[in-house]
Amino acid sequence: MSETLENLLRETRQFEPPAELAAAANVTAAAYEEATADRLAFWEQQARRLDWAREWEQVLDWSNPPFAKWFVGGQLNVAYNCVDRHVAAGRGDKVAIHWEGEPGDTRTITYADLQRLVAQAANALTDLGVVAGDRVAIYLPMIPEAAVAMLACARIGATHSVVFGGFSVDALSNRIQDASAKVVITADGGYRRGKPSALKPTVDEAVAISPSVEHVLVVRRTGQDVAWGSKDLWWHETVETASPEHEAQPFDAEQPLFILYTSGTTAKPKGILHTTGGYLTQTSYTHHAVFDLKPETDVYWCTADIGWVTGHSYIVYGPLSNGATQVMYEGTPDTPHKGRFWEIVDKYKVTILYTAPTLIRTMMKWGEDIPAGYDLSSLRILGSVGEPINPEAWMWYRKHVGRDRCPIVDTWWQTETGAIMISPLPGVTATKPGSAMTPLPGISADVVDDQANPVPNGGGGYLVLREPWPSMLRTIWGDDQRFIDTYWSRFDSMYFAGDGAKKDTDGHLWLLGRVDDVMLVSGHNISTTEVESALVSHPSVAEAAVVGATDPTTGQAIVAFAIPRGTVETDGEAGEALIQELRNHVAKTLGPIAKPRQIMLVPELPKTRSGKIMRRLLRDVAENRSLGDVTTLQDSAVMDLISGGMKSGK
Ligand code: WT7
Repeated sequence: MSETLENLLRETRQFEPPAELAAAANVTAAAYEEATADRLAFWEQQARRLDWAREWEQVLDWSNPPFAKWFVGGQLNVAYNCVDRHVAAGRGDKVAIHWEGEPGDTRTITYADLQRLVAQAANALTDLGVVAGDRVAIYLPMIPEAAVAMLACARIGATHSVVFGGFSVDALSNRIQDASAKVVITADGGYRRGKPSALKPTVDEAVAISPSVEHVLVVRRTGQDVAWGSKDLWWHETVETASPEHEAQPFDAEQPLFILYTSGTTAKPKGILHTTGGYLTQTSYTHHAVFDLKPETDVYWCTADIGWVTGHSYIVYGPLSNGATQVMYEGTPDTPHKGRFWEIVDKYKVTILYTAPTLIRTMMKWGEDIPAGYDLSSLRILGSVGEPINPEAWMWYRKHVGRDRCPIVDTWWQTETGAIMISPLPGVTATKPGSAMTPLPGISADVVDDQANPVPNGGGGYLVLREPWPSMLRTIWGDDQRFIDTYWSRFDSMYFAGDGAKKDTDGHLWLLGRVDDVMLVSGHNISTTEVESALVSHPSVAEAAVVGATDPTTGQAIVAFAIPRGTVETDGEAGEALIQELRNHVAKTLGPIAKPRQIMLVPELPKTRSGKIMRRLLRDVAENRSLGDVTTLQDSAVMDLISGGMKSGK
């Protein structure tokens, strides 16, 4: 880590905001001063971006930390704010979503269309017995119905729990059961890499072991054959036949909006709970400020999947609350060809693009000739999120996508923070390649040492948040104690983000990745323990240790060390076959994203005296040597290194 740090701090390039953009920017440097002068008054002013049915009595109730209440006593309807109010203001014909299916089919959805669809879905859910406070699981591909389903839940005060479409039966059923979801909304399948990919069979298996589920609503997307059970209902026969009239009721500002699961260091994923008033205030404000959105002229595109928090906050709630016109794309970036993203930018004249470093690195690998073949002159702002963006990728993004004209906003935040926390402002900040720069107005982030002392400029330590913020998680679903233990116990009266960070000599922030055992693979958090548990659930494995190793494409890659059970044959082809079987087993258990890049069969694992696996040592092993062709470590020098470490107790 220290080597990375040194490299990063040698970065001296800086890029001023384009003058024209700065002159017309939504937010200027004055916002920092206003927020510093009175943080709560600042957020109160941002809350007025929304339509409230009832004004709040108190901006923040922090009398029982870390349990916050924002805009106490206020009432609003999230779906009304994201849809109806734009129609009421005469903007019903404005395009909300330009949807592009992977096979090339398209749909254009205006705000008036969206209002009708959301109202129908709200009526259908109500008819199925869903009432305010009930949980609804959503397991869909990137189709407009995903946004419609989320907004329909919000409209009736139900809590959605979106599960990424790539997750397995186990992951889906665990999430359904943890939240006791009453309804599951899914599809027959979606298109991935040029062919239909089924979703319904996974739901069928998950629902069979999840007694809380009363109904399954199925969108027909691919037309593939599906098994049909007694709980199943077609979306087109249920939602699309429902009344388009629906009166949105206001709900309390602290009404739960959604649960989204994120991996932790233990096997059980954490259900991060977000509520309505504060969440919508901060997603709306940050989308307006960080992307400088001009709703009348901009075409915004966030390439994330709706199953991650980026999709929740910056495809659904932020952009729609601001009345944006946006692109939504179903598929993969290389189908049917590697220029697909740039073709979409060109086709819809995208002005603001928000994507992830893992994608930028993939594009770099494919070569600059590919973006060079498209007209990208519509672009004016580029965003990055999900993991630290290395200066090299940042420069590539700036040059070959932004053509040296567009500011890059590197946005740091988490599922838990709900909205962007640290980022440049495109019309204000002179950016440095690889730095997320400064906390946004109204946010107090800092870097502290082990003893909770703030580090001086030039120092490194742990990223913390000193003050509550409107879109903060309210708890971990069903586990207040774990909420306290995970985020509020490492340091007194501060939120511990779990990331390492560095302040440079100007005081700008550089994020350095997770300090715990969570791996960040292509922008997705995967816990080492989860993968270990999956490996050990295979009959041939006795014990396993998993580490994240630096990988040029995915950021981190999963490398596993597994001890086979005594009688298992591991020589030659049998060992190779077992490794393949284990990789597939993990993919099946946790989803393809968790498939280890590499598995090594070892006779033992280095452990501390208290029996804790020494992951740091294994990470060294995984990173410092090319082990591509090594299937067992029994006789290799690597195992000597492992046992050497064991003996010396390092
Ligand atoms: C973790 C949160 C926020 C939506 C996507 C991921 C890492 C995120 C950045 C960034 C450096 C970043 C952090 C964070 N991360 N954005 N701009 N620079 N690191 O959400 O799955 O909750 O993961 O992603 O390590 O803690 P998530």
